[in-house]
Amino acid sequence: MTDPPLLDTTRVLTLRDIHVDREGHVALRGVDADAHAGRLLAVAGANGSGKSTLLDVAAGLLQPQRGTVRRRDDLRIALLPQTTALPPHLPLTVTDVVSMGTWARLGPWRRARRSDRAAVADAIDAVELRPHATRRIGALSGGQRQRALLAQALVQRADLVLLDEPMAGLDTRSRRIIADAVDRLTADGAAVIAVTHDLSEFRRADEVLTLHEGSVTRSAALRKQSRARAASARA
Ligand SMILES: Nc1ncnc2c1ncn2[C@@H]1O[C@H](COP(=O)(O)OP(=O)(O)O)[C@@H](O)[C@H]1O
Ligand SMILES: [Mg+2]
Repeated sequence: MTDPPLLDTTRVLTLRDIHVDREGHVALRGVDADAHAGRLLAVAGANGSGKSTLLDVAAGLLQPQRGTVRRRDDLRIALLPQTTALPPHLPLTVTDVVSMGTWARLGPWRRARRSDRAAVADAIDAVELRPHATRRIGALSGGQRQRALLAQALVQRADLVLLDEPMAGLDTRSRRIIADAVDRLTADGAAVIAVTHDLSEFRRADEVLTLHEGSVTRSAALRKQSRARAASARA
């Protein structure tokens, strides 16, 4: 008998039996996880439970000591790290930072086309930063900065978007804007993995994975059908 395939039409990332040792401390022990196009996977757990480590493995930044990682060929990945401290005098505006999202596809040396500029303006509107578009990114509040980085991810049109506690410490408005942007990403067909220590931040998750000291203690599907597929069935 052959094993079922680790990737299929909707599954873009498969992690199996992942073990990670960080400086003698076991950060992940035998973790299984999947990311599906058009679905949001919320990863919950206390501080130190291994959430950021799991994103590092998913992004390919960290090689597990044991386990299987399969990514769909040519998978474009966007990662929003947990610490987004930026030098306050960084000479980049919100528009510059969001525009960098187009480089992933086109390279920095190609001139922006009208369609790129429209996509950048649209993403800035989506995260409600139009009034701040020409401000330096370092001058923004934490919530505005997170929204700018999420706008960059929208422009990138990544297949897999990894968000590390994107709502931590943010006010209601910024949290609502980020939740809406995540909805937009999944509706556009991206697979999203969002890490949180508070699951109420991601009520619209399709799947939930809870980590405790590096092990999965709960793995549940909350929806049978992805929103993207539901939407295409309606169309
Ligand atoms: N860069 C690192 N070097 C060494 N150990 C680390 C590093 N990052 C995280 N760890 C350890 O790995 C474990 C999991 O950390 P992490 O994945 O950051 O958890 P979480 O994101 O859930 O708070 C923790 O015990 C932490 O101390
Ligand atoms: Mg973390």
